[in-house]
Amino acid sequence: MKNLYDDVFLYDSVHGGFADAETFDFYDRQISLYGAPVLELACGSGHVLIRLAEKGIEIFGLDISAKMLGACQRKAGERNVKVKIQAGDMRQFELGRKFKVIFIAGNSFQHLIENADVSACLDCVKRHLAPGGKFIVEVLNPYIPLLMRERGRKFMVGAFGNYVLTEDVRYRAATQVNHIRWHFWHRPTDEITTLSFALRQFFPQELNALFEFKGFCIEEKFGDFNQSAFSDDSPKQIIVAGLI
Ligand SMILES: C[S@@+](CC[C@H](N)C(=O)[O-])C[C@H]1O[C@@H](n2cnc3c(N)ncnc32)[C@H](O)[C@@H]1O
Repeated sequence: MKNLYDDVFLYDSVHGGFADAETFDFYDRQISLYGAPVLELACGSGHVLIRLAEKGIEIFGLDISAKMLGACQRKAGERNVKVKIQAGDMRQFELGRKFKVIFIAGNSFQHLIENADVSACLDCVKRHLAPGGKFIVEVLNPYIPLLMRERGRKFMVGAFGNYVLTEDVRYRAATQVNHIRWHFWHRPTDEITTLSFALRQFFPQELNALFEFKGFCIEEKFGDFNQSAFSDDSPKQIIVAGLI
């Protein structure tokens, strides 16, 4: 079965609106507070990166998928924006320079499945942060009822253009990894394309502990892009961290 990021067209048809105004404003605000240059890890097809580059912010992107980077380059070209992006693994990169802000948007940090992956990524980030620099990560706030949905049953996600998207999930409690399959039904042809991906769940105290264990100091923890304080019902965990 293909991975979600192997089909950029379908990925983009769902995530087109993902960098909504509130998300974009959040990153824009953080960068105006802490400065540039900026590095986006797992920048994907550039929903956030292109808009920040469009504003004249000096920003670099890194992603493991050549297809996603290709789409990012193409979309930036269509908007006449120059983007500096390169292929690389957020667990192992050396860019030879430091950044005032490094961020990982769109739950991409949840692709770090093992603790060793998280540790390797945080080590790389530490080496690339300028003095006083900030690392910003957004992940989901795990919602147990959603994780524990009946196995094999398809649940509606929504309609995107000509597609209706349903999903089925298998959450493995031992590894804290949610294995997700997205089923895209193309209404005009009745064809179904299934794409898979996996998201490690980070429970709130665990996430804080991982950061602190690796020498980061959590300066802010928001529950959403409107910068509300993180609480029980927050959809997200958004950490702004510096180095101790
Ligand atoms: C949710 S998407 C990207 C979101 C992105 N902010 C956007 O605007 O499209 C997740 C991305 O993580 C990338 N990815 C997964 N594992 C990675 C790794 N180890 N290193 C770098 N990128 C990775 C995937 O290729 C994919 O593009």
